[in-house]
Amino acid sequence: MAATIASVGLARADGDAASGRKKAAQCVACHGIDGLSKMPLAPNIAGSPAMYLEKQLKAFRDGARSDETMNVVVKPLSDADIADLAAWYSGIEVEVTLPQ
Ligand code: HEC
Repeated sequence: MAATIASVGLARADGDAASGRKKAAQCVACHGIDGLSKMPLAPNIAGSPAMYLEKQLKAFRDGARSDETMNVVVKPLSDADIADLAAWYSGIEVEVTLPQ
C-alpha cells in the first residue's frame, strides 16, 4: 500500500511540460514564462525541483502557506494542473555565474 502511494506521488511529479507551458500564461506577469522573477517580491522558480514546486503550490492552494496573491492564483488549480506547471518550470535549465 505504501509503495502504491509513493508511486502515485512520483507519477504526479511527472506532469506534462507542454500543457504546463500553456497553463503558465497565468503566472508569467510575475514569474515569466522562463521562471525568472518579473517583480521584486516574486521568486525565481526556473529549475526548482518538480516535487518542491508541487509541494509549494499545494500548500498555497490548501492554505498551509499564506500569500495574498498566490493563494488566489492557485485556488482553482487541480492536482494535474499543478503537476503540469511543476513539469514546465522544473524543466527549465538554469545557468549561474557566481559573484566575484
Ligand atoms: C501577481 C503575481 C503572481 C502571479 C500571477 C503568480 N505568482 Fe507565484 N508567487 C508570487 C509571489 C509574490 C510569491 C512569493 C510568495 C511569498 O512570499 O511567500 C510567489 C511564490 C510562488 C512559488 C513559491 C516559490 C518558492 O520557492 O517558494 C511558486 C512555486 C509559484 N509562486 C508559482 C506560481 C505559478 C505556477 C503561478 C501561475 C499558476 C504563479 N506563481 C502566479 C507572485 C505571483
